[in-house]
Amino acid sequence: QILILDYGSQYTQLLARRIREQAIYTEVISHDLTWNEIQSQYPNVKGLILSGGPASVYSSEAYLLDPEILSSTLPILGICYGFQLLAQLNGGKIETASKQEFGLASLFLTPSESPLMSQVPQVSNVWMSHADYLTILPTDFEVLAHSPEAVAAIGHKSKPWFGLQFHPEVTQTEFGTQVLKNFLFNIVKAEPDWAMNNFIDYQKQKIQEQVGADKVILGLSGGVDSSVAALLINKAIGSQLVCLFVDTGLLRQNEAQEVMHNYEPLGLNVHYIDAKEEFFTALKGIKDPEAKRKIIGRKFIDVFKREAQKIPNVKFLAQGTIYPDVIESAGLGKTAKVIKSHHNVGGLPKELGFTLLEPLKMLFKDEVRLVGKELGLTANLLNRHPFPGPGLGIRVLEEVTPEKVAILQAADAIFREMLTSENLISDSSQAFVVLLPVKSVGVMGDNRTYDYACVLRSVKTIDFMTAEASQLPWNFLANVAQRIINEVPGINRVTYDLTSKPPGTIEWE
Ligand code: XMP
Repeated sequence: QILILDYGSQYTQLLARRIREQAIYTEVISHDLTWNEIQSQYPNVKGLILSGGPASVYSSEAYLLDPEILSSTLPILGICYGFQLLAQLNGGKIETASKQEFGLASLFLTPSESPLMSQVPQVSNVWMSHADYLTILPTDFEVLAHSPEAVAAIGHKSKPWFGLQFHPEVTQTEFGTQVLKNFLFNIVKAEPDWAMNNFIDYQKQKIQEQVGADKVILGLSGGVDSSVAALLINKAIGSQLVCLFVDTGLLRQNEAQEVMHNYEPLGLNVHYIDAKEEFFTALKGIKDPEAKRKIIGRKFIDVFKREAQKIPNVKFLAQGTIYPDVIESAGLGKTAKVIKSHHNVGGLPKELGFTLLEPLKMLFKDEVRLVGKELGLTANLLNRHPFPGPGLGIRVLEEVTPEKVAILQAADAIFREMLTSENLISDSSQAFVVLLPVKSVGVMGDNRTYDYACVLRSVKTIDFMTAEASQLPWNFLANVAQRIINEVPGINRVTYDLTSKPPGTIEWE
């Protein structure tokens, strides 16, 4: 096992994924764990990586490292801030230079026998992102590479300690994966044994031990995470798992029927709860986006709690929490401003009084998909676009009524169906329609119309933190608009949203 000590880099999660891609298990831990804590909590640790971070190692608030770690024999790789920290702790000097180095830079290797640079060519491109530089080499270290501006890689002459000023985890660094592999396989000598079928067997046994003869409930949303969690737990304890599917009335067209239909052959025990009226009543007259989000989130908890209490002997609440959620809630990531209060079906509060069962909490999204595939989840369920917890409640802008939801569902179904049939769905990471609270005048045949306007939204993104509008063909957009206006009573105008995120967000509310 490799541990990544997090110093706050925006690339820490990516680094963890890159290592898992090499079939090596890794976890991100807080930088302030002591060597004793690390040894007792992670007895199998074989190597440490010190991540990048936004601070300067010489500042009075700099995050440091338990010095005891340096008395161990563990291999250490410092990246960016981690490199500078390792250098400083060994007598090197880090200073701010007048010129920052952001973006692509050439990496020139210094002749050395270092196993870290094996199979890396003499000159290659790397991704740099730093304002501080190594100005005095730490004691007993040698320079392994430099960029036009800075020392870019160092290695200890006798200990397995290395530092990289560049980021090997980003794809722009041409031989970044090679360098990481060199650290993992040449230096740590790690065994590539992290595989999804091992994971399934291990979790199955763990769930059986933990749950015993008790019952488990799970809120199934139809999304990937809750579906995979349900299948995994079902494999372990079969009918002791009861899934609750709450129909809020705010789902996509026919979604409730499709979810029930799709899960039947997978052998899950799913209870359908029709709560449509309750949600619409709670939302009556409410226009403010945050108020709507809070009402929907609260209502969901109320309904879930009420229905869960009807099932006897439930002790556990299963959730499809995944690793990025864990990293964020542990405060390892940045503390961000609240732009929107997210409601997530997988995020039910502690007040429900159940013990949590979160079998996916160490997996990244792509790993969750691999587990889902192994467990027989079909491609249409595995590759679904994300759908927000508050559903169409935040895509019908301002007041939500059953009539407006029905109009939106019809338009949204046409857009997504046409994206699929025209093979454009791969140009989109998320695509949907938003119903505006605006009416406009139109003419159909010889008659005046005065109906709602809607917006087509399709974005391309990797992490949903930033996104760009998909560049869909003009003809396609025109055909979608024509079909919506012809087939959906209530809409007489269609627009396309070109806004990227930031400054926009993906959803409109
Ligand atoms: P924004 O609109 O913040 O959306 O750019 C980013 C991604 O998050 C989804 N989203 C949510 N997901 N509960 C969720 O589970 C929510 O309350 C929620 N709000 C937005 C959104 O669909 C996009 O994929």
